Parts: sequence; structure tokens; C-alpha cells
Amino acid sequence: MSLPQGFLDELKARVSLAEVIGKHVRLIRRGRQYQGLCPFHGEKTPSFHVWDDHYHCFGCGAHGSIIDFVMQADKVGFREAVERLAVLAGLALPQPTPQEQAADRRRGRLVDLLGAASRYYCQMLRMPEGRPALSYLQGRGLADAAIDGWRLGFAPDSGQALKSALAREGIDEAALLEVGLLVQPEDGRRGAYDRFRGRVIFPIADQRGRIRGFGGRLMGPGEPKYLNTPETPLFHKGRLLYGIDRAAEAARTAQTIIVVEGYMDVIGLAEAGWRHVVAPLGTALTEDHLRALWSLVPEPVLLFDPDAAGERAALRAAERALPLLKPGFGLRMALLRVDTADDPDRIAARWPKQMLHRTLQEAAPLSDFLFRIENRGRLHVPPEERAAVEARLRQRTGLIADAAVRAHFDRAFRDRLWQAARFRSGKAGRDRSAGASRPQAGRSAIVDESKRVWTAPTDRRTRAELTLCALAAGSPRLLDRHEEDLGRLAFADAALDQLRQLLLVLHATLGDADAATVQEEVRRRGLGSVLDRVIGELPAAPAEQEAEAAWAAEIALLHKLLLKQELAREPAADLSAEAWERRRALIRATLAAEKESG
Ligand code: UTP
Ligand code: MN
Repeated sequence: MSLPQGFLDELKARVSLAEVIGKHVRLIRRGRQYQGLCPFHGEKTPSFHVWDDHYHCFGCGAHGSIIDFVMQADKVGFREAVERLAVLAGLALPQPTPQEQAADRRRGRLVDLLGAASRYYCQMLRMPEGRPALSYLQGRGLADAAIDGWRLGFAPDSGQALKSALAREGIDEAALLEVGLLVQPEDGRRGAYDRFRGRVIFPIADQRGRIRGFGGRLMGPGEPKYLNTPETPLFHKGRLLYGIDRAAEAARTAQTIIVVEGYMDVIGLAEAGWRHVVAPLGTALTEDHLRALWSLVPEPVLLFDPDAAGERAALRAAERALPLLKPGFGLRMALLRVDTADDPDRIAARWPKQMLHRTLQEAAPLSDFLFRIENRGRLHVPPEERAAVEARLRQRTGLIADAAVRAHFDRAFRDRLWQAARFRSGKAGRDRSAGASRPQAGRSAIVDESKRVWTAPTDRRTRAELTLCALAAGSPRLLDRHEEDLGRLAFADAALDQLRQLLLVLHATLGDADAATVQEEVRRRGLGSVLDRVIGELPAAPAEQEAEAAWAAEIALLHKLLLKQELAREPAADLSAEAWERRRALIRATLAAEKESG
């Protein structure tokens, strides 16, 4: 039964948000709002704000109305939250009409029926005829505990197996047809038969763990490989997300949720310890999916395969999300960084945790992702293409309905195009005011630093800068993959920063040059002595893998240090929506960087 909006409005008007929240944390009044320690993540300085009609945490992004708060704090569903608030408000819940009551009861019976079907499939998996299905699942790396935990099952290869088993439990055929477990042949001469035959069964539950339908996979070749419950009163594939019942709690705690492609990916990643993972049911993400994800966390991460199909899917998801974006809610896009054609579920078992962690952490905000798509993966837009790229980006931002978010995107794109322009023109000055790095390149910007007295770097930041330069000069191919890392950072040490800029310029202009060529060019341009000190930093030319690992570690460290600095510069008094957004993103990024660099 849905509750009338009038009732919900009345409820919100009668109960004070600050009072309800005040029972969980101590709030201090600051003008028209209250402030306190966030009840949803451990923190020592208050970043949790409460207004008349909503709350917002700048630390973890928790955000919502009084009903959201009760749902989140008491870990209850919408209905239960409303009931609790109604008691506080002294309001009686509107009584369902007899028709609504009857419909509720019927739905309840259908849900029970699906539970019975699921139990049957689980039993069959452990019977002799389920042997091949069990071996199939074990062959995909699943332990018995995982198979039971995910309630995986087996549908025998017969049109009557489930039908007769459930008939013995007194369940009628009409109900089985209604939930899509039976198929009624068109000609009407034959009776209804089981939809799922000879398949491994994945039950699909809603957020409260109630089974709504099933997915069935063939164990061998054949079509279709996957079969789902059709649309029924309980099963809407545009709304349900596989794994949401198990992922929701973990997602709230981790403040992030990962969206993958398939059932096995969800299970594989969850069993490898990534419990906040869900998947759509064989379709692209819908608006309803996005809303469901955003009700859990502000910035879900979509993880795609690194191939062309994965990129297309990512773009589709991005396009779907643009019109729906609102302040504080976004998406991040991650591409699996692997050179094999493996699925996430296979990768999860084999991959070092660190690698997936990095992939997720590097997930690009939607704006970066779109920029890269339009600029075909390059960091810099050549001048002759800039107008076209700008027009295409504008077309994308035109899809964003929310004016504030749209302005944000437009500005981000303008900045990046401008950054590229300065880089290319070589006429850049020494403006560092924005704190970001704009490679100030071109020959004129490179001065001879060789006369500078060298002092051994004592601080960690300079050491990181030194190592990064050494890696980039010693293994120029690193920049094929990580050019952007270096382009985004400004080095604190002036000499090293010059070398950083020169290395970027050389990478852009010399193409596939090897280390010797790059280094010769560095010397020719007057940075020989800096180079010497830098090269001395590495014991020997590292193997590619070592170089990758070292690069990752140093970048993570630098990020952390820079984020902290940037955060310290944010004016705390700025309460504009934009400033919150910035601060929140910074805090989150700092926490993530902290975790990464140890
Ligand atoms: P794919 O057909 O690409 O399967 O569908 P896959 O990932 O290779 O499957 P595995 O790993 O071999 O088992 C991608 C995912 O979409 C869902 C399934 O979860 C599948 O893993 N799907 C696909 C459905 O739910 N229903 C469908 O009809 C098709
Ligand atoms: Mn798969």
C-alpha cells in the first residue's frame, strides 16, 4: 500500500528533525541549522548538518529527509520508518482500503510461493540429478558456503518438476503462472509447464531479501544462456538489482557501491570480500536503478570491462544518468585494468586486492569520463579540435536537467580545455593560484636549473616527486598509461617541477622514444644536472611491474598530501551548495587516499 503524500507532509511538519536526530547525537545550534558528529561514520570533528527539512554530512555524504534518517539510523524500511514517526507525531496511519488489504495479502502469498520454489531449487541442487549443476558452480570457483549463502539452486530438465513438487504443497497453477514460474503454451492444448528447465538458478531478491524472481543459466552451450523471470507483479527487471539485499548494508558502511555486469561477478567479488556489489539483470541501468543506488550512496561506481562493449555500456549508463544528476549525487566510472578477457568474477579470485582497489579508487567522475570519451582518451585537446570537442561536450551537458550541476560540468570542461590550451601554446606564465598543475611548457619556460645548489630531499613529498621523475625518465612508456597522473600534479620542488613539465612535453612530442632518447633531449634542454640527481635515485632500471607498483605508491602518497593541503585551504564558512560538494569530495578523496597509501 502506498501512503498518500498529504499524510507524509503532515508527518514531516509535525516531527522536528533536529529532535529526532538529537536522540542519536548531540547537536549544537548554529543559526538556523544544527551541527554535530555524523552518526553514520566515525568522525572527530562535526561535519553533520541539520536543517528544518533535511540533513547532510559533508564527511560521508549521508543526506535526506526525516524518513531517510530513521531508515538509515534504525536500519528499517520505509514503511517501518513512517510507522515509528507516526507514533511520535501522534498520527494514525491511514488505513488501507479492503481492496488494498486484499492486494497486500495476495502479494504476500506470491512472495511465499517464490520462497517455496527457491527452497525446491536448492534441494534439487543437492540431489543426484543436480550433480552437474553443483559441479558447474564448483568449477566456477564457488565454495559450498557461497552456494548456500546465495541460495543457488538447480531446475531439473523437465517441464513438470517444479509444477508437481509445488502442487504437492497445495500451491495452485494460477499463482505459479502469475509469478512466471510456469509458461502457458499459446495453443492451449497442452498444460502449463516449468519455465526454468535444466538450469542453474539464481534467486533475485529485493532490498529486504524477499525473492521476487529468478535467473537461470544453462550449464553448457545453448540459447539463451541466461533466462529470467518475465515481468510480473513482483518482478520488474528495470527496478531490481541482483545482490542488493546483501550489498545494501555494506554499501552504507563503505559509502560506496559497485555495479557490475553479471550475477557471477557479484558473487565472485562478494566472496572475495567486496560485499557492496550489485548487478542489473541483463539490461542497461535504468533511471529506477540509479535512484535505488543513490538512495544508498551518493556516488555509485560502475565497473565495466575494458573492451569496446564495456565502453559502450559505460557511455549508455552515463547518458542515462545525466538528466537525473542533482547536487551531491553522481556516478564514477571504472574500467577493469586487465589485459585478459576475463570477467570480474574470475578476476576477483585471482587479482591481488590492491589492484581492484586501485581500479575502483581511480574510477573517474562522470565529467572526467565524458571528457576522456570526447577527447578519445587523450589528456590534451589539440587546438584544431578544441571547438568541436567543446561543442560535443556542450551537447552532453545540455542533457543535465539540474542547473547547478550543469554549470559545474560546463566549468569543469572549460577548465580542462583551457588547461590544454595553455599547455599547447607554451606561452604560459607562472600562475599557480588555482593550486592545480598547468604544465607550463614550451622551450621558453624551461630554464637551466643546473646552477641550483642541490640539497638532498628530506621531506616525503620531495622524495615522491623525485622518484616519479626518475621513473618517468627511466621508463618513458609509463607515461603512456599515466600521463594524466603527472599532468594533474604540480611538484613543490621547482627544479623537479620543471623536469616534470619537460617530461610531459617530450612524451607528447617524441612519441614512442626510448629512455636514452628522452634523457638526451632533457640534457639538450638544460636540465641535465636535475636529471642526474633524479636518475641516481633509482638503484637500477626497474622491471616494468616494479616500475608500475612504485609509480602507483608514489602517486597515491602525493595525492594524499595534496588533498590535505587543498582541504586546509577550503574556506570553512562557505556554505554554498558548491562549496559543500567540493569539501565533501575532498574529504572523501583524502580518506580514500589515506587507505591506499597506508
Ligand atoms: P552475458 O550473456 O554477457 O553473460 O550476460 P556472462 O557475463 O558471460 O555470463 P557468465 O559469466 O558466463 O555466466 C551478462 C549478465 O547479464 C545477466 C547475467 O547476470 C549475466 O551474467 N543476464 C543476461 C540476465 O540476467 N538475463 C539475461 O537474459 C541475460
Ligand atoms: Mn560473466
